[in-house]
Amino acid sequence: MKALVFLGGGRITSALIAGLRLTQGQAEIIAPQIIVPRIIVPQIIVPQIIVHDRNPEKLRELRRKYRVGIELDLHRAVAQAGLLVIAVRPDSVRELLGVIGPPRSTVCAISLAAGIPLRKLRQWLPGVPWVRAMPSPAARFGKGLTALAFESGLPRNLQKEVTDLFERVGGVMKLPEEKFNAFTVTYSISHGYHALAALAQAAEELGLDRKTALLASAHALADGIVAWREASASLDELLKEAATPGGIAATVMQTMDEGGYQKIIESGLRTGLKRTRENAKR
Ligand SMILES: NC(=O)c1ccc[n+]([C@@H]2O[C@H](COP(=O)([O-])OP(=O)(O)OC[C@H]3O[C@@H](n4cnc5c(N)ncnc54)[C@H](OP(=O)(O)O)[C@@H]3O)[C@@H](O)[C@H]2O)c1
Repeated sequence: MKALVFLGGGRITSALIAGLRLTQGQAEIIAPQIIVPRIIVPQIIVPQIIVHDRNPEKLRELRRKYRVGIELDLHRAVAQAGLLVIAVRPDSVRELLGVIGPPRSTVCAISLAAGIPLRKLRQWLPGVPWVRAMPSPAARFGKGLTALAFESGLPRNLQKEVTDLFERVGGVMKLPEEKFNAFTVTYSISHGYHALAALAQAAEELGLDRKTALLASAHALADGIVAWREASASLDELLKEAATPGGIAATVMQTMDEGGYQKIIESGLRTGLKRTRENAKR
């Protein structure tokens, strides 16, 4: 079986590999009657994982933590790839693909690079089918979401293979490529961290200690999302339920809205979208 090869061993590669390893850990629990030493499980469930990065110390760290194969030589890494995941930053993609040259045995290439369109990827590395994928570091816990945009005409078996890979680390949704950049700026777990930091900081300004501020803020945000996911009610109905007219929550929300809460979020996303379009011009 050909390997799953990552070019770039940074943050998102580490999160995806951790998530894949977690799935393998769960397999041990799902089938307790099969007593397999943990180290053998990866060979049964996912193809061999190989990572190439220009920083040998990052590779050694990945090998130590996740028992992946590492390959210091780019061409040797590519030669082993069935699925080839491009996980370098957008400004490095063109140069990297230029060095690789047409891969002879890679079945499918998957780019994680924000903003770089399929037509550019195809131009920079022809002769291999392309997929764009946008996962998040939540893949580390098997709880993420990955959007996929397939090159037109990509055979169904390849679409399934790529979908299956990302389903191991969370939900998967197929998106038309023209929506991909809007998804990219909307789906970042940084929004959760950012909102948590802002709410907790405001609570501290009102006199809560840091621990209580974080706990209250985390519950406010997370409980709202859980309720929305689990309830049959619409978001509007939930908002009405949580905010008595003229009450405290309603007053807080009204003040925030009048201060431009919605507008500042949209403005942030628009700036992010502009940035993804700049990546496309590289
Ligand atoms: N982080 C996320 O949450 C996330 C989510 C979805 C998609 N993505 C996408 O995934 C890609 C990687 O993001 P990241 O956050 O993981 O970046 P990162 O932490 O900077 O990792 C990229 C790694 O690739 C290495 N690299 C760069 N050019 C290389 C080359 N020519 N040959 C070998 N190694 C090379 C980098 O080395 P140096 O440090 O020496 O440059 C670095 O170790 C980006 O395109 C990003 O848009 C990221």
